[in-house]
Amino acid sequence: MNRIILALDTTNLDEAIDITKKIRNKIFTVKLGLEFFNAHGKEGVKKFNQISINNIFLDLKLADVANTIKKSIMALDGINFEYLTVHSFAGNESIKKAKEAAKKLNPNLKILAVTLLTSIDETELKSRMKINSKVEDLVLNLAKNSSEADGFIASGMESKMLRENFPNHLIFTPGIRMPGDDRHEQKRVVSPAEALKYSDLIIMGRSLTSGDIEKNLSRVISSLKI
Ligand code: C5P
Repeated sequence: MNRIILALDTTNLDEAIDITKKIRNKIFTVKLGLEFFNAHGKEGVKKFNQISINNIFLDLKLADVANTIKKSIMALDGINFEYLTVHSFAGNESIKKAKEAAKKLNPNLKILAVTLLTSIDETELKSRMKINSKVEDLVLNLAKNSSEADGFIASGMESKMLRENFPNHLIFTPGIRMPGDDRHEQKRVVSPAEALKYSDLIIMGRSLTSGDIEKNLSRVISSLKI
């Protein structure tokens, strides 16, 4: 199975289902994010359950106080999904509560802590956010503070460092681009092959969905075979 998660960043439910049916055998799973979930909610996720898509990744990037995190995860009952994201910046207590809620909801549900978004680089961190830390150090500290999670979302630039420090955690990597692809707002970008040296799975959106998805996917899969 290819270690690729397709980010379905759309509000168009029919289109999302059609694309998924077309390429389901070539990817690990799909990621349903905020755009999709805000438009379709749990009913939208159920449509993917009805066509038996396994390992659904619900990328809600929760970031709130522990009690709210716990209750909002418990409110996701009645749908099947395997991965859920919570921001590391929500703090250790929130990550712990997320794990607690996940265990109650579904013992197979894995909580992934989003470290630092791949759209943020050191310049933004230092000059605008006034966080005087190297990206790698910050990601490591955020990961350490979220280590109760089952895994992390981090750029391919930090996946080696995370793998060395957390050999048993999952590492999923967005911000993936083939050479020459439009980067959009992503800053800490690496290629599929580079990311998969240390990450378990890569998350790809626009590089696959812009233009012919099957062609784009074949190009990525070939690049992984070299
Ligand atoms: O490949 P593309 O840039 O289109 O992927 C964007 C997707 O990756 C979005 O669904 C976004 O939510 C997700 N993402 C993420 N974590 C980041 C950066 C992007 O989950 N650090």
